[in-house]
Amino acid sequence: MSDHYNQPELAVLYDDENGWDVSADFYRDLARRAGAKTLLDLGCGTGTVTRGIVAAIGGHGVGVDPAQPMLEVARRNTTDEAIEWVHGDARDIRLGRQFDLVIMTGHAFQAFLTEADQIALFRTVVAHLAPDGRFAFDSRNPAAREWLAWTPAESSRVVDTMAYGAVEIWNEAAMNPDRILDVQEHYRVLSSGRRLRADFRLRFSAPEELWDGMMAAGLAVEHCYGD
Ligand SMILES: C[S@@+](CC[C@H](N)C(=O)[O-])C[C@H]1O[C@@H](n2cnc3c(N)ncnc32)[C@H](O)[C@@H]1O
Repeated sequence: MSDHYNQPELAVLYDDENGWDVSADFYRDLARRAGAKTLLDLGCGTGTVTRGIVAAIGGHGVGVDPAQPMLEVARRNTTDEAIEWVHGDARDIRLGRQFDLVIMTGHAFQAFLTEADQIALFRTVVAHLAPDGRFAFDSRNPAAREWLAWTPAESSRVVDTMAYGAVEIWNEAAMNPDRILDVQEHYRVLSSGRRLRADFRLRFSAPEELWDGMMAAGLAVEHCYGD
């Protein structure tokens, strides 16, 4: 798995760069429409989406993530006793409970680099869905070839962070023939010049591949949204 979320120095600036957004609105509205009262957020990271949805539905939530630094931020920012944070891997965790809604947001799904890992995740979902429960997740569509703009020149941005003040962030990316993207994310703290770096890999799966994997795990596809 990537080193991106296991670096405490980077986990503390995740929320400055990735706050609540239209995608989080989408998941919250889905939870409301589905009448969900229990939520399982796989790959919850710092838990912004988990907290927002649990607050909106007034129910109970569990966030699972293998990166302790991300969970530490989640714990620090949570006062709601209706949310539990669990250290674990979405490929094999078994909580022995079922949920109305299971989500995996923020393209976390793309961290699963093999079909076997994707199917393992879908099996985890099946093990945790209540009867009539739903699973919602997102993955970047390879047809959009978004990574072409992940060059230092086009991706450079300055983010105001609580921990370091202004930080310049930029990416470099190289696509492999197997549709796995090698990504480097570079960080430069403007006040001190300090540099940080995360290397990670993302798999870009076509929609049909995802459907095959879901069906193999026993899920039925209800909607495929685009943006
Ligand atoms: C881009 S962040 C998304 C966090 C959050 N879902 C959001 O929308 O802000 C991706 C998260 O996926 C988590 N992740 C990576 N591999 C995972 C795995 N095998 N099981 C569960 N989560 C995983 C990372 O630790 C990280 O917190």
